[in-house]
Amino acid sequence: VTLASRLLLAFGLVAILATAMIGLSMRGAAREIIEADFDDRIELAARGARQELAWESDGLRGLLAPLCEHDTFLGRIHLELDRAGGDPAKLDPGSRIALRHLVPDQARALRLDELSLVTGDGVVLAAEDPTRIGARDARLAALLRATAEGGPRLRPSAGGGVPSMEVHCTREGDGVTVALVGARRIEPILTRIGGAYGVRLRAIEPGATPPPASADEVVRVVDFAEVRGLAVAASVPTLKLTAALEKLDLAALLAGGGALGLALAVAVVLARSLSRPIVALAREAREVVSGEPRPVAGRGSRELVELAGSYNRAITELTAMRKRLAITERIAARREVARKVAHEIKNPLAPIRAAVETLRRLRARDDPAFDEYFDEATRTVLDEVHRISNIVTEFTDFARLPAPRPAPIDLGAVARSVATLHASSVEATGAAKRPRVDVTAEPIPEVSADRDQMVQVLTNLVQNGLEAAGEVRDDPRVAVTVGPASEGRVRIVVRDNGPGVSEAMQPRLFEPYATSKAKGTGLGLAIVQRIVLEHGGEIAYRTATKGGAVFEIVLPCAGPPLDATPAPTEE
Ligand SMILES: Nc1ncnc2c1ncn2[C@@H]1O[C@H](COP(=O)(O)OP(=O)(O)OP(=O)(O)O)[C@@H](O)[C@H]1O
Ligand SMILES: [Mg+2]
Repeated sequence: VTLASRLLLAFGLVAILATAMIGLSMRGAAREIIEADFDDRIELAARGARQELAWESDGLRGLLAPLCEHDTFLGRIHLELDRAGGDPAKLDPGSRIALRHLVPDQARALRLDELSLVTGDGVVLAAEDPTRIGARDARLAALLRATAEGGPRLRPSAGGGVPSMEVHCTREGDGVTVALVGARRIEPILTRIGGAYGVRLRAIEPGATPPPASADEVVRVVDFAEVRGLAVAASVPTLKLTAALEKLDLAALLAGGGALGLALAVAVVLARSLSRPIVALAREAREVVSGEPRPVAGRGSRELVELAGSYNRAITELTAMRKRLAITERIAARREVARKVAHEIKNPLAPIRAAVETLRRLRARDDPAFDEYFDEATRTVLDEVHRISNIVTEFTDFARLPAPRPAPIDLGAVARSVATLHASSVEATGAAKRPRVDVTAEPIPEVSADRDQMVQVLTNLVQNGLEAAGEVRDDPRVAVTVGPASEGRVRIVVRDNGPGVSEAMQPRLFEPYATSKAKGTGLGLAIVQRIVLEHGGEIAYRTATKGGAVFEIVLPCAGPPLDATPAPTEE
């Protein structure tokens, strides 16, 4: 995952979470505030309605009693009814007509919505609604029997009207009762008060279930002690709440989108400014690995500059260390070779010394054998001196191996030319055995290497393989394979169908002067190893599963590292 995508993800997530959290908490707060406002309004409306109803009910309480007690007209009706034996039908027609006008006038004067004059049995003597006159109102009869005068009570709408506050007074005497029943509607009061607070107030009939709360309304039921049996449902439409919440949701969505866009833009800019110098640094570091080590330039933040600085210091130190190591290795190798050369030279010295000593001894005693031996001794001395001279020449050749001069070469072609060279040399000798060298070259990039030294390497390996195989087989064969290795490297494998390197030889295989051959120098593989190492590569030996020796070389395509050039102290 790239730095940019990580930053984008992180910023986006933070932006979304932040706006979601802020949006949700604002939504919750707004809901709480609005609901609290609903509660407040309902409470205020209920209080206002309660006061108003209390005031109304107080007014109603004593409104009718004076009429029953003192009204002369009512007294006259009572008297007439008494005379008529309590039968309303026998009332004086004049009085009846007068009643029709009087009662509605009275109702208007008292601001009552309804007013009726009834007998104790509930027969209506007068009312605003003329159709009721003469009829018997069973509810009123029961009411007069059951309830004494007093405070207003709720008159349910079941009786045909609307919920009202009802009061009555009676005038009794001589077994005849007349009563005035007045009512004032509650609804207008509730409407007026509710309207002032934006709350809808409705009277609930006794026994009726209050309206259930719905999605569009908040409903509270308020009890009123002032009017017996009265309960009021207060409701507020939630339209405002839903509208406010919708607005908030939209605002949160817009703010979230804006924040997300902004965060992503910032993340992109940040990621670019962060990753560009890192990518540049990585590219420079890669170039350093494949080419000449040179300092990388750290650009961008201070951390990156510091990183580049540390990297440069490490590279400088590493280069110096590799140089020192190369020098140390060379010194050790030279010491080892000197030891071997001394050993090699000691061998021919012994016969020389023996020959000279014998000559001197023969001369001292004037032995006649002197002349006879002189010839043989001088030949031995000359032979051994020649051997010493050879050893010294080979050693100087080995020691003077020039530093590689790399140029881009096609290793496959080099391998093929080495194989051709061998084939033609075999043709020339006309040997009985027909050795074969096969080359398989897979496509590989050009390799920066010293062509002559590569020829030397392949020639030595092919020569060794053919010699070893020729010892034991009639069809000595060597196969050279050239192909790609891990990134930026190529692999050369040389295998033969010989017996493989003997157990005794294996630990000293690449040492100078290690040989199992009578005429061998033992320098072949030492030179091969040195060339490969100086090209920045590696060489390894293994025995093939079916026997036979396998030499594997891996070389960097980029060519020899610069610090592999021989140190000046070498010369
Ligand atoms: N392909 C091989 N199979 C078996 N043994 C090998 C093979 N290559 C090398 N050797 C062994 O390793 C020894 C060292 O080889 P190296 O090439 O260094 O010297 P040399 O071949 O003996 O001498 P020169 O190369 O001068 O002829 C050989 O003498 C031989 O014993
Ligand atoms: Mg050899």
